Amino acid sequence: MSSAVASKIIETRVYEGQKPGTSGLRKAVRVFMQEHYTENFVQAILQSLGEQLPGSTLVVGGDGRYYGKETVGKIIKIAAANKVKKLIIGQNGILSTPAVSTIIRKYKTQGGIVLTASHNPGGPDADFGIKFNCENGGPAPDHVTNKIYEITKVLKSYKIAPDVTVDIDKIQSTTIQVDGSPFIIDVVDSVNDYLEHMKNIFDFSSIKALLQGSNSNPPFKILINAMNGVTGPYIKRIFINELGVDNSSIVNAIPLEDFGGLHPDPNLTYAKGLVNAMKDGPYDFGAAFDGDGDRNMILGKKAFFVTPSDSLAVLAANLNSIPYFKKTGVKGYARSMPTGAAVDRVAAKNDIKIYEVPTGWKYFGNLMDAGHLSLCGEESFGTGSDHIREKDGIWACLAWLSVIASLKKSVEEILLNHWQTYGRNFFTRYDYENCDSEAANKMMQHIESELEKPGFVGSKLTSEGKTYIVKLGDNYSYTDPVDGSQASKQGLRILFQDGSRIIYRLSGTGSSGATIRVYIDSYENDPASLTKDAQEVLKPLVTVALEISKLREFIGRDAPTVIT
Ligand code: G6P
Ligand code: ZN
Repeated sequence: MSSAVASKIIETRVYEGQKPGTSGLRKAVRVFMQEHYTENFVQAILQSLGEQLPGSTLVVGGDGRYYGKETVGKIIKIAAANKVKKLIIGQNGILSTPAVSTIIRKYKTQGGIVLTASHNPGGPDADFGIKFNCENGGPAPDHVTNKIYEITKVLKSYKIAPDVTVDIDKIQSTTIQVDGSPFIIDVVDSVNDYLEHMKNIFDFSSIKALLQGSNSNPPFKILINAMNGVTGPYIKRIFINELGVDNSSIVNAIPLEDFGGLHPDPNLTYAKGLVNAMKDGPYDFGAAFDGDGDRNMILGKKAFFVTPSDSLAVLAANLNSIPYFKKTGVKGYARSMPTGAAVDRVAAKNDIKIYEVPTGWKYFGNLMDAGHLSLCGEESFGTGSDHIREKDGIWACLAWLSVIASLKKSVEEILLNHWQTYGRNFFTRYDYENCDSEAANKMMQHIESELEKPGFVGSKLTSEGKTYIVKLGDNYSYTDPVDGSQASKQGLRILFQDGSRIIYRLSGTGSSGATIRVYIDSYENDPASLTKDAQEVLKPLVTVALEISKLREFIGRDAPTVIT
């Protein structure tokens, strides 16, 4: 390839519907494969940077799913033509979402482009996604995604330097003169920067001692399942090379373009492989991550399930086991609105501020940037801290192992002790996937009208001998305490006098039809109830939730697709 090339302008046409959702633009692969479709969206992202674009540095990488490498090739050519100065690209196009956030922050770049549809299946007949993260390392906030969308609606052409090509399978730095200016492409090791960050946050030697065992303690056996997603190379380096576990403790650790047919979402339904291996196996601890490595599921011995809401609360109560927080102090906790309120009790006891934000990691970013927040999490299997601006699956796993190393107790004992101290928020989520969108919207309107009825507040809802008195019913809205920006219609809430809650939301991350989520959260502090089965304890509230919503009538489903 000649080292001096020219860019050109390609006429295009506007594509409808390039509105980024909760986490970027996520569609079927075949949608992205339409002529100019991907190019348009990349051009719109770059243009949204405005004056920051010329001379900028951007990070590029993704979860290894089908169409990722091809898209990296397109981004290289389009960035070159748009006067970007440098791209930092993960080898083979691989970077986990937390690694992108780490690299953006470490090298103070203007942002990054993440090629992922997160936990959605991959392959030619499945999903692809493109997401922009800003210079703080976090997902673009609404005002940025709106700007990108506005650009897509009027885009008539894009710029491209078609002769700029680089072998992204090879770690190397290449400089090419594009329209007379140097354009640098750094293909970097996908793991190094992230690993270094983790080593600064955690005490690897204490985790290693736990895993290896000692004269007085047997080795603590772990099973980590990467679900054929992006975390494979990361967990190999961290757990095998650094922490000395053997190969058999790491499964599905080669990133596959179709995730080996798995639905790479770490929950009890889609991570059945891990659940079964834990049930039958000798393992003390299990973890799984989603396609792009930001979600996590934590299990104890015999597949004892830690709900993400409890996981957040336990970490909150034990942050002093992690060197990072000893250095930074604990500034505050936060959870998304539907997340079970277990962490609120830790906050109250420790006198630490707790924030409630709408669903979506981007809402935590502002609080972190303003120094209000150290630890946060969501019921949707996201846990993280202000070490980056994304949730972080491997971080959550290392955080748990740090807590275990310090408390020297099993996962189950830790949970039991936690509930004995704070009481227990029982939590469950029912998902109804792929529903008819119109019917789902009608159901939400119906629920909202029920909540607005005079007399709803104060009414008594009874099921199976349990009575709940309504304290509040609304459509949740949020005002960001840092910049005053507002988000409305973030989920229908019914709050009861005893602190129990029912929440209804439509998913913002699905790619076909509507997914209805019903969240149930209920607090108990009776010692006799603490170890009960969550489904059993929550059954009356679930029944109330289904009755109010008339879900069966509107949607025609008798059972949810997934229960978490
Ligand atoms: C992504 C976001 C999370 C959010 C989740 C909600 O994973 O990064 O912050 O909680 O989507 O998904 P949903 O499908 O419920 O809109
Ligand atoms: Zn994800």
